[in-house]
Amino acid sequence: MSFQWPASFARVPDAEWSRQDVGDLARKYDTVENHGWYDNLELTVEQIGRFIRDGDILLDYSGGTGILAARLLDRFREREFGILIVDSSPKFLRLALEKFRHEPRLAFRHIRYLKEEGRLETVDEVLDPPLLDRRVDALVSSNAIHLYFNLPETIRAWRHVLRPDGRVFIQSGNIRNPDMPAGEWIIDETVEAIHRAAISLVRTDSRWAAYRTALDDADYMAAHDALRRKYFLPVRPLSYYVDVLTSEGFEVLSIERATIPARVDQWYEFLRVYHEGALGWVGGARKVTGHAVSPAAEADRVELMRRGMEKIFGGQQEFAACWTYLTCEPVQ
Ligand SMILES: C[S@@+](CC[C@H](N)C(=O)[O-])C[C@H]1O[C@@H](n2cnc3c(N)ncnc32)[C@H](O)[C@@H]1O
Repeated sequence: MSFQWPASFARVPDAEWSRQDVGDLARKYDTVENHGWYDNLELTVEQIGRFIRDGDILLDYSGGTGILAARLLDRFREREFGILIVDSSPKFLRLALEKFRHEPRLAFRHIRYLKEEGRLETVDEVLDPPLLDRRVDALVSSNAIHLYFNLPETIRAWRHVLRPDGRVFIQSGNIRNPDMPAGEWIIDETVEAIHRAAISLVRTDSRWAAYRTALDDADYMAAHDALRRKYFLPVRPLSYYVDVLTSEGFEVLSIERATIPARVDQWYEFLRVYHEGALGWVGGARKVTGHAVSPAAEADRVELMRRGMEKIFGGQQEFAACWTYLTCEPVQ
């Protein structure tokens, strides 16, 4: 049996996002596909492979540039299930489209930001009637749930689009898991540690003396702290996710944990793109000061990031990150 989308369902909608050019930021993000720490997807691929059947539809919520979709297609070449990538970033979605425009098992939908209401659409507002009638057989959210500020509404909408016998697969390296072994990292919390290490380098090494006055300006530093926490959100505990899932009508069937080795150089390559969020106080972030950082200060910022990383990881080439995986099904 070959996979079929519902009749009259357009795999690729004709929309502003699908007509735009592919941008650099999305391409930069997509390079994480080759990073060792993206092995965090392996367990997810196995979990989905055990559950999904030919003819099924998997909704890849926050599917981004399609890295998980690529791994699923690669791992299960002969299988006939559809993957619907839904994402709030038109740029990421556009790159996913670039990669899979001609793959009949892939479809794409954009979650719009409703300006007047100050919120993102929920997934039940995004899917078209033929798919809402059919519903999806499984839903996955990888490396993204820690970004949802409206978690209860997001999960309530998942419940509406999932079949009663469907399953939800969630995973993230930014969930505070009480079983995290000593010595492991919550991956985004490395940023706070890098920030503290950079402060210490600026205070003690005369090479960075130009940035010392900034450190004593409490308002300036507080504004950059707030900016950093917008890029790298405060980590919520596992119990928060379990509570919301439960109160929105899901039973959490399993919680698994994996140690994911991350290469320091690859994590640096990823983080340096977000230097303004991570170490904006070095030279001043445009979002705080209103003007662009000088090229020299930007170079110092990135160098301080690299040295901060050397410091927090004790010169090691790798660190261990803790990933958490939840599998859920709707309560009948
Ligand atoms: C770190 S990327 C992960 C992408 C992909 N799932 C993966 O594992 O490579 C996070 C994704 O979540 C999306 N995202 C962020 N906030 C979201 C929200 N509130 N609702 C839906 N998607 C969101 C982003 O656009 C981005 O594509």
